[in-house]
Amino acid sequence: MASTAPIGLFDSGIGGLSVLKTVREALPHENLVYYGDSANAPYGVRPPEDILALTRAAAEQLVQRGIKALVIACNTATGVALAALQQELLIPVLGIQPALEEAQKLRRSGDILALATPATFKTERYAALYGQHGDHVVSLPAPGLMEFVERRELGGDNLHAFLTDLFAPYQDRRFDVVVLGCTHYPFLKEAIAPFFRGAQLIDDSPRVARQLEDKLRSLHLLNDSGQPGSVSLLSSGGDEAVKLMRTFL
Ligand code: DGL
Repeated sequence: MASTAPIGLFDSGIGGLSVLKTVREALPHENLVYYGDSANAPYGVRPPEDILALTRAAAEQLVQRGIKALVIACNTATGVALAALQQELLIPVLGIQPALEEAQKLRRSGDILALATPATFKTERYAALYGQHGDHVVSLPAPGLMEFVERRELGGDNLHAFLTDLFAPYQDRRFDVVVLGCTHYPFLKEAIAPFFRGAQLIDDSPRVARQLEDKLRSLHLLNDSGQPGSVSLLSSGGDEAVKLMRTFL
């Protein structure tokens, strides 16, 4: 495997671009190829069998492009399919998960709000994570929220009304940290933040980028060409979806 081979990143749609951005900043010489499965989104309300099959198919598309590592840039797909893909593929496979561990480091006397898809919260992986780092954590599923990002509706009245309903039961609680446990949500940071004044909004992408760098270094696969890395975008939603993706970079 050549160190100039690309790194593949995958999400159910546009959300994983939030991870791509972090990876690109951390590893600017790497070539990245991103696949968004917008035609089959959302994953977060699907049964696990569907999510596993879709994730396998997406990984296959990227493997065919000669990737040297795969980042499942989707908490939902990671929760369901990371262990299977790590066994099945011959390249390193990394995943993203709700950043509860980091949230515990930042928590003071308030609580932690974890936002993710319903499917993420139902996984054994999340149960294990919660078992280890779940103190003072409120897990709040947010079905319907990723669709705002897929429509590039990152502000405005409809989004505000949706968030007002979603967060209404928690307005009297003090959260120190809000965990954005779906890769679409960092694109909604500005809309979410005003509901939780004083809280830090975090996601897991910095940890993923560090883990990716360590992994590639240990395998002598870091791209040392000195050239700026390229970014290729692919989507099951066709040219229109790719055009929309470019506006998020
Ligand atoms: N972006 C995905 C995640 O991180 C999920 C969005 C979806 O429901 O497809 O969980």
